[in-house]
Amino acid sequence: MGPPEPPVSPDRMDDASRGESAGDVPSEIVRLACLAPSAGNVQPWRFLVAGGVIHCELAPSRRSTYLGGDDGDRLALGAALENAVLASGALGLDAGVETNARGWSVRLRPGTTPAHPWAACIEARHTNRARGDGAPLDPDEAASLEAATGAEARLRLITDRASLAQLGEAIGALERIQITNATLSPRLLKEMRWTPSEARRTRTGLDVDTLQLAPLERAGLTLLRSAEARAALHAIGGGAKLAKGNAETLARAGGLALLSTDGDALDAGRAMQRVWLQATALGLAVHPYGTPADLWARARAGGVEGLDAAAAAELDRALAVIAARYPLEEGERPLLVLRFARADAAPLRSSRLAPEAVTSRA
Ligand SMILES: Cc1cc2nc3c(=O)[nH]c(=O)nc-3n(C[C@H](O)[C@H](O)[C@H](O)COP(=O)(O)O)c2cc1C
Repeated sequence: MGPPEPPVSPDRMDDASRGESAGDVPSEIVRLACLAPSAGNVQPWRFLVAGGVIHCELAPSRRSTYLGGDDGDRLALGAALENAVLASGALGLDAGVETNARGWSVRLRPGTTPAHPWAACIEARHTNRARGDGAPLDPDEAASLEAATGAEARLRLITDRASLAQLGEAIGALERIQITNATLSPRLLKEMRWTPSEARRTRTGLDVDTLQLAPLERAGLTLLRSAEARAALHAIGGGAKLAKGNAETLARAGGLALLSTDGDALDAGRAMQRVWLQATALGLAVHPYGTPADLWARARAGGVEGLDAAAAAELDRALAVIAARYPLEEGERPLLVLRFARADAAPLRSSRLAPEAVTSRA
């Protein structure tokens, strides 16, 4: 099976960041690295090209708050690194990789290793929030997704209906807590881009048109831009529809996986990207859920700020369900939940900053 066609981007055809690179080999590798996913599409990277070496590090002005510390942004940097290594291979080059506390570098050399099939999926990979047809993953597909992490992270994939339903309820509850909470939701809403022109101008963040929301869901999200509406919703214990919608979608997933690590989140980001590219090669939709791992990580690190007693109790209950389904070993950290489904490609792609805008040259 060949790689799926990248979906057409009808409203964002002027998005040059997905088009041609400056022409030289390092620029092409940087362009493909920039197609990596990041929490809230913050694109927390910047590049320095020095001859045949590409350096990538965290861009202080574009950090996310995901997972609290560096883990969230290092996941994205790792995904960009995986793209860079695969792209180098496809261009006939070996990439000598070094990672450090700031990010990574690759030293390009003539290579002899054949291109990996995942390289052909880099441009087609995208977040696809479609519900899907409800069919479970077959065991070979599930095994190939779990194997794609290699030793750099762990992916625990759940496909049985009863567990999916329980996880769906728990994750739905966490999403509700997140969106109705006065401290948590502004973090999320800050990343939203509400109009096509805002999405085009910023080229970062979550374009509301890409979220594949039903009209009522979209109206609800738009309402939540107002702090008063959030407070009112919270006061009446609202958001039940949101929780139910999420629970139903998750219950009919083909599979639901937790990505975790006891090592560097940058390495886990490489593993995450390989899983996503493998899913793309299989024609599967991938929808990450950041809220469960984010709240779980914060709870483990000393508690989630700004919750009242009822929300704190609901959080504990939901996290207990998730921890029972995905029992972590000593030292292991939860990084991200991924929902896999069988669905047509998403109709609209997210934007990227132009690679030249995030690259300097020595
Ligand atoms: C660590 C991480 C967390 C994410 N969390 C969510 C999430 O909670 N909900 C969601 O719809 N998308 C989530 N995403 C998907 C990003 O929004 C998406 O990768 C980004 O907008 C770029 O779009 P693309 O993946 O289509 O290239 C997450 C992605 C990453 C890497």
